Amino acid sequence: MANAAVSAEAKGGGISRREFLYYIWGASIALYAAQFTGLLVWFLLPRFREGEFGGKFTISIDELPAVNAEPTNVPAGRFWLVNLDTRQGNELMAKAPDESEEIVGVAAIYKVCTHLGCIYAWTPANNRFECPCHGSKYRLDGRRIESPAPRSLDRFSMEFLDADKNPIPGTQSELVNDFIAPVPLPDNAAFISVDTGDRIVGPRQCLLGDLTQECP
Ligand code: FES
Repeated sequence: MANAAVSAEAKGGGISRREFLYYIWGASIALYAAQFTGLLVWFLLPRFREGEFGGKFTISIDELPAVNAEPTNVPAGRFWLVNLDTRQGNELMAKAPDESEEIVGVAAIYKVCTHLGCIYAWTPANNRFECPCHGSKYRLDGRRIESPAPRSLDRFSMEFLDADKNPIPGTQSELVNDFIAPVPLPDNAAFISVDTGDRIVGPRQCLLGDLTQECP
């Protein structure tokens, strides 16, 4: 009886139950493959766009602070830009007794306090970063002066770009003692590219206030 129905379907030009199941199975496989491909593309594509926190920020060199001057605030990127050269004597940045090397170059410092995550600010009257929540203080380059901050401020990796926005070789941030070192400013730099998706936590250095006998 069933065979008769199947052959009747075949004769009538319809599809058999077996063919129908094949089509459903094929459609399921195709749907699964499409979902998998979509997930793969989503995973491989950058999650953050340029100019969005978590992505890269391209900033004109004109926005860079002068050497040893107060930091430039980049609110959208949640970082401060500093331009340091202790060889020239930096009134905003007392050198610590445990620092034998000069500090020269540009750095992008994350704006979040390393204690409990408050947003600290530059305090011009005291020439340092100060956190309003529990009083942590940091030097211009982000080194902690006073606790309760457990470590110095975090930094983002960065590099300099030329006028065509091509990376300038040799200007990519490097890790020195597991921390991002300032990058010396090259003559042909036109832009700075800061990658807010690549943050390195600040080192647990001695309190600068203890070293200079200025801790309360
Ligand atoms: Fe900054 Fe506590 S969050 S001192």
